Amino acid sequence: MCGITAISTKKEALPFLLQGLEKLEYRGYDSAGVTILSQNQLKTIKTKGRLKDLKEALSHQVLKGQVGIGHTRWATHGIPSNLNSHPHTNEDETISIVHNGIIENYRELKNFLLEKGYHFHSETDSEVVVHLLDYYYKGDILKALQIVLTKLVGSYALCVVTTNHPDEVVITKKDSPIVIGKSDSGTYGASDIPALLEYTKEVYFLNDHDIAVLHPDHVDFYDCDLKPIEKELVNIPYDHEAAQKDGYDTFMLKEIHEQPHVIKETLRGRISQDQVVLDELAEIDFSPFNKAYFVACGTAYHACLSGANIFERMTKIPVICQVASEFRYNDPAIDEHTLCLFVSQSGETADTLAALRLAKKQQATTIAVANVLGSTISREADYTIYTCAGPEIAVASTKAYTTQLVVLMLLGMYAAQRLDKKVDLYHDLIQNLMKLPELVENVLQDEPLFAIYAEYLKEAHDAYFIGRSLDYASVLEGALKLKEVSYVHADAYIAGELKHGPIALIEKGSVLFAVASQPHIAAKTISNIQETIARGANVILFTLKGMEINNAAETYILPDIHPLLQSIIVAIPLQLIAYYTACLKGCDVDKPRNLAKSVTVE
Ligand code: M6R
Repeated sequence: MCGITAISTKKEALPFLLQGLEKLEYRGYDSAGVTILSQNQLKTIKTKGRLKDLKEALSHQVLKGQVGIGHTRWATHGIPSNLNSHPHTNEDETISIVHNGIIENYRELKNFLLEKGYHFHSETDSEVVVHLLDYYYKGDILKALQIVLTKLVGSYALCVVTTNHPDEVVITKKDSPIVIGKSDSGTYGASDIPALLEYTKEVYFLNDHDIAVLHPDHVDFYDCDLKPIEKELVNIPYDHEAAQKDGYDTFMLKEIHEQPHVIKETLRGRISQDQVVLDELAEIDFSPFNKAYFVACGTAYHACLSGANIFERMTKIPVICQVASEFRYNDPAIDEHTLCLFVSQSGETADTLAALRLAKKQQATTIAVANVLGSTISREADYTIYTCAGPEIAVASTKAYTTQLVVLMLLGMYAAQRLDKKVDLYHDLIQNLMKLPELVENVLQDEPLFAIYAEYLKEAHDAYFIGRSLDYASVLEGALKLKEVSYVHADAYIAGELKHGPIALIEKGSVLFAVASQPHIAAKTISNIQETIARGANVILFTLKGMEINNAAETYILPDIHPLLQSIIVAIPLQLIAYYTACLKGCDVDKPRNLAKSVTVE
């Protein structure tokens, strides 16, 4: 997704814009650009390619000025090219904009502007915005923006600079993220907090349709009627170091190793004397719920699959787990007796956000499980439980996933407690939860083994993953991790389904990862594994002590922990196998091709 930076300062604008865009690289991009307001002129430099290409282009220019906007573009309308890059500028170069999101009615707006004599230089949807601003500008940029916003259908985070208001950057949003920062040296806008941290930890959050005007020493806020509004300045508890690699080669590896710590943080204060404490949900009455939906995308959806299994077992409330992009179009059966849970690391995923809004509209009680403080999903849900994973920079989600699993475990237990179900059985589970960080650390010590397991995939084009029950959710996530970072085609199957079709794929040398961590069905998975070994598969087995088989290529014995917590343990080797396979194949681990960290368009 696109990344945006903006600044009004008494110092130079460019260094902030560029470092911010670097911090936003994880969002994925194919071109980059900046506009600086310099001596009452807008100077725009933009180029297809990476930030190093932009810096190269900038090295031939003197771009000095105190106000500016920057952008990394992830193409949606129009190929990656110099012309399609942002910022976009009006004909007489008095207004420049950057945009993240999609203007759905841009064709109609473009036709209107063409009829008025405007010329377009790009194929983007975004360019209509700058020409509309030009068209409606009658001496007051806020009034022009107010009119333009009434014309736009779609999503946007927008930043505008104009020579007519030389100290200011005007910023607004709808369904796309942007956060505002303030320090003694200036005021800032950015798509995400890591872009601000080197300059400030003091931020304001915008709601949809709010307008912020950056000045060098303060920010003015307005609602959509241009009435001034007050915003609270929030201190962000992350430090800049937390957003750096900390000596690891990649963010993904660093984030994998952070899991013992962030699991501990996520548990902190949430367990007391054999009880789960989730004060965030204290006001919910769980008794009227006759069903629940757990909704998310990608890795967060896999966390939902595990969480739903646990929630249903514990509360006996039936749970339907759905991918957000399906849920929103499936006309789900929701009413005031439905609990809807939305899981999202970024808290900005467009499909998950739309699903949340649908559920709210239909009177469901909504809970968000989010990682990013103040993100849209976390603000719009009725209740929010935060994972405490800290900033996750690598595109492949690792620590966000395991902390989501921890929160969903706590949620199942908490809801059961509130419904007076099986609470007496929790002593063991709670003791095991407290041991989790240490056990995850122990599994991380076996990293060299997982690097060896990755060697099986060095020449492979395909990999198979099998498991049952909670292990099925784990192998789905293992397969997703492998394919997204190493580009090895990977599929996950319910072990019991193998003989209904997929086993036809197995031949001599096939690589198959099997997880058999659930005591009540591990033996059945082992039988399915034998069927694949008989057909020549090299099986890498993750199982419990006593369930080993002598004809697996490799066997990893999982630590002794409550079965409901094994998904968190198993995640670690599967993440590291994906990581080392990607390294063997020379892939860009942190920024896999075609992927974006935060998917803020449908
Ligand atoms: O920010 P979210 O958790 O809502 O993101 C959902 C997915 O886009 C995300 O988990 C994606 O699948 C990751 N690349 C997986 O590693």
